[in-house]
Amino acid sequence: MRATMMMAVLLAGAAPVAAETVAISAARMLDVNSGRISDRPLVIVVDGRITAVGRQGELAVPAGARQLDLGNHTILPGLIDMHVHLTSDPTLSGMQALRYPGSFWTAIGAGMARRTIEAGFTTVRNVGSVDYADVGLKQAIERGAIVGPRIVPATYAIGATGGHCDTNELPANFVFDRPGIADGPDGVRRTVRELHKRGAEVIKYCATGGVLSVGTSVGAQQYTQAEMNALVEEAHMLGMKVAAHAHGTSGIKAAIRAGVDTIEHASLADAEGIELAKKAGTWFSMDIYNDDYILAEGAKNGLSEENLAKEREVGLKQRQTFQAAWKAGVKIVFGSDAGVYPHGDNALQFGKMVEWGMAPIDAIRAATIRAAEALGREADVGQIAPGRYADIIAVAGDPTQDVGVLRAVQAVVKGGVLVKGAN
Ligand code: ARG
Repeated sequence: MRATMMMAVLLAGAAPVAAETVAISAARMLDVNSGRISDRPLVIVVDGRITAVGRQGELAVPAGARQLDLGNHTILPGLIDMHVHLTSDPTLSGMQALRYPGSFWTAIGAGMARRTIEAGFTTVRNVGSVDYADVGLKQAIERGAIVGPRIVPATYAIGATGGHCDTNELPANFVFDRPGIADGPDGVRRTVRELHKRGAEVIKYCATGGVLSVGTSVGAQQYTQAEMNALVEEAHMLGMKVAAHAHGTSGIKAAIRAGVDTIEHASLADAEGIELAKKAGTWFSMDIYNDDYILAEGAKNGLSEENLAKEREVGLKQRQTFQAAWKAGVKIVFGSDAGVYPHGDNALQFGKMVEWGMAPIDAIRAATIRAAEALGREADVGQIAPGRYADIIAVAGDPTQDVGVLRAVQAVVKGGVLVKGAN
């Protein structure tokens, strides 16, 4: 009742708003599609979306447009990270995390969202959080109450009882809310429906064990083929894509056979798994920077020896798999698992992707045009092109020569609005 009344007051007071036109310029622009850099670009934006892209002096600036010059920099599309946990803080790992209530994680998520967009990531897929915090963060960002990237929320990660997505560290007499835990084809279907009802736009589930859980073997499959088939069928029926956490060899193949859209981690994929992914067009989203951070900082951050031992087991293998998969022609997107390493440092992974076999432009494509495809959001994000949101970042120098420049993003524009950087 109160909410309805407030809404009526707000609507009555709202004057019709004229379309806002912005003309964005810079010294250079990278076209991620062709890989070419052009001089003196001009991007026209109306109400947050790009309407024209051309050259200064050639393309007309519409009368009344607000000018936004991003200076002597190279502009490119806002970056997309396909795997983050905005409500996680890597320095609060292991049992110490249990000292904080759900509200704490939502609150820090607001800060992490700001760090993420200031690092140039204007869209993220949040693949696992508690209390539907990612939905709330998204809503608060869209209202302008806090600053952050566009969020594709998964809400809870779905997983088998005792699996990687369960909370196995708690003793049996501790009751814990576990909305993502589901078993059997009917159980996973019901959970997909429930999470969708609560705001999930993508489904994340755990197909195998993992590094940072207690009592799971990284390589072990954790859902049957029948469970995965039911989960994916249900999610697709509801119009959602599916991300499968899968390090293990057999779990990766079962997930691909079930029709998932992205395999997260993909550490122990074998030649057959790589071939299956290629044939099915399944994307690999591989967090290949993490190993460095976990081995250097994990113990200090509260990770147990069990977790560290599992990291030593998969870290190098995952990078080798990345190299083999890319070489074989598997489609790869940028997924960092930020939250496992500090938010805002997402772009550190570009260097690893290049070190392990990708050309710089392909690493950039993995975080722009390709990520947009994998999200099914080509109409919205991933390119500086008419129709898409004016999500644009500026870097010093040429990122196709040195992806290191992506670690120091100079300016960030989201929907035509300057979020970071001088004008
Ligand atoms: N969330 C992942 C897991 O617990 C992190 C894996 C990090 N390690 C790596 N080598 N990518 O399994």
